[in-house]
Amino acid sequence: MASDADTVFDLVVLGGGSGGYAAALRAAQLGMNVALIEKDKLGGTCLHRGCIPTKALLHAGEVADQARESASFGIKATFEGIDMPAVHAYKDGVVSRLYKGLQGLVASRKITQIEGEGRLVSPTAVQVNGQRVEGRHVLLATGSVPKSLPGLRIDGDRVICSDQALQLDYVPRSVVILGGGVIGVEFASIWRSFGAEVTIIEALPRLVPAEDENSSKLLERAFRRRGVKFEVGARFSGVEYTENGVRVSLENGKQFEADLLLVAVGRAPVSEGLGYEEVGVAMDRGYVKVDGYCQTNVPTISAVGDLIPTPQLAHVGFGEGILVAERLAGLKVTPIDYDGVPRVTYSDPEVASVGLTEAAAKEKYGAENITSFRYNLGGNGKSQILKTTGEVKVIQLKDGPVVGVHMVGARMGELTAEAQLIYNWEALPSEVAQLIHPHPTQSEALGEAHLALAGKPLHVHD
Ligand code: NAI
Repeated sequence: MASDADTVFDLVVLGGGSGGYAAALRAAQLGMNVALIEKDKLGGTCLHRGCIPTKALLHAGEVADQARESASFGIKATFEGIDMPAVHAYKDGVVSRLYKGLQGLVASRKITQIEGEGRLVSPTAVQVNGQRVEGRHVLLATGSVPKSLPGLRIDGDRVICSDQALQLDYVPRSVVILGGGVIGVEFASIWRSFGAEVTIIEALPRLVPAEDENSSKLLERAFRRRGVKFEVGARFSGVEYTENGVRVSLENGKQFEADLLLVAVGRAPVSEGLGYEEVGVAMDRGYVKVDGYCQTNVPTISAVGDLIPTPQLAHVGFGEGILVAERLAGLKVTPIDYDGVPRVTYSDPEVASVGLTEAAAKEKYGAENITSFRYNLGGNGKSQILKTTGEVKVIQLKDGPVVGVHMVGARMGELTAEAQLIYNWEALPSEVAQLIHPHPTQSEALGEAHLALAGKPLHVHD
């Protein structure tokens, strides 16, 4: 749909990813006249190059592992291999159904969609396809792209980033992954399940270093069992091409040969050349600076999602987009407590958390004021049935509320739904202990940890 040149929209959104489209949908719902500018496909990184396609690959990997391990459940099945074109067809089918649904949703809310590359040209206007789109307010939501290290060129063939990893039409025999954060760990899990030899290089002393130390330990143990290799506290020094692949060197002198190098050292905000600085928007290392209400220093301009220095998670983008739409519509809004946003790494096993790590809780409240309990999934019936191992760890302010929940094991991501209520409602362990968890579910492990903190452990060996 093209916009009328004289129209002044209530809101002009630049970027149709999770943050941008959530704001557009909510603003339209609140009666605002909205323009949504997107140069590529509605849905952005999450739908087309991130959350959704990677989780489909992870699930395909889980099916492969289940087929391999079927005999341990008494089921006779033979694992014959990975048919990558068919895996992609499954993954792309999921993406395209969601994409169609999203297009329908945006159209049904009477949002004016403009296809093209926009550029901010004033505090109230974006230029796109030679046309000036005016709004009372502008929302910047241009997202992020994979970044690399200085001097390390992503050639898209042997040295790749997650964009290409998602499209790979074969299973590599071996891969070195640079970065043991969320993307590195998820692709390590996918490729290992598909049968590749995987080595992760992580500069910090442990995998998923932003998580609680205990979670890193459990993930590392599980990865060792799965045959995923990793080097932690190891800095990358260079890569050279070999006849059939790459040779990756570390500063400690070690070298690793593989078919591919995946670079997963973070994502950088997309803000360059888009007119932000020229219009006077305050920036910090490429990120747009905002206050707790996602408002920039220019009162008519807001920004959300991976473009601002808050956690780069699709659900954070949704939350920020909704917050901006509601604020602009005059509703009362509350700044987001980013510690209260659930985080899930969807590897096998999953690493899931909400709230503070034990180290952060001790720093904030003093070590003497913190207590924690770790419930081993060995005591949880459903986890035994699934043959998964891991733990649920709950951190409590002594005689006070829960301040952190950290979980490792299959399907633990689903438990963040309850964990986030516990953390965000500042529940006391004794209050959670009152609630009866359905048996047999993995949620009982959360219940057991709270029973223990409330002084009445049930399925816990002394
Ligand atoms: P990340 O920041 O999570 O991890 C990057 C890792 O690379 C860090 O652990 C860092 O210490 C390491 N690193 C940096 N330089 C290095 C070097 N020279 N040598 C070795 N290691 C080095 O970033 P990642 O994994 O690329 O993900 C980008 C963003 O996308 C993150 O914010 C992440 O939360 C988000 N994402 C979220 C997912 C989820 O919620 N399941 C899935 C995938 C991505």
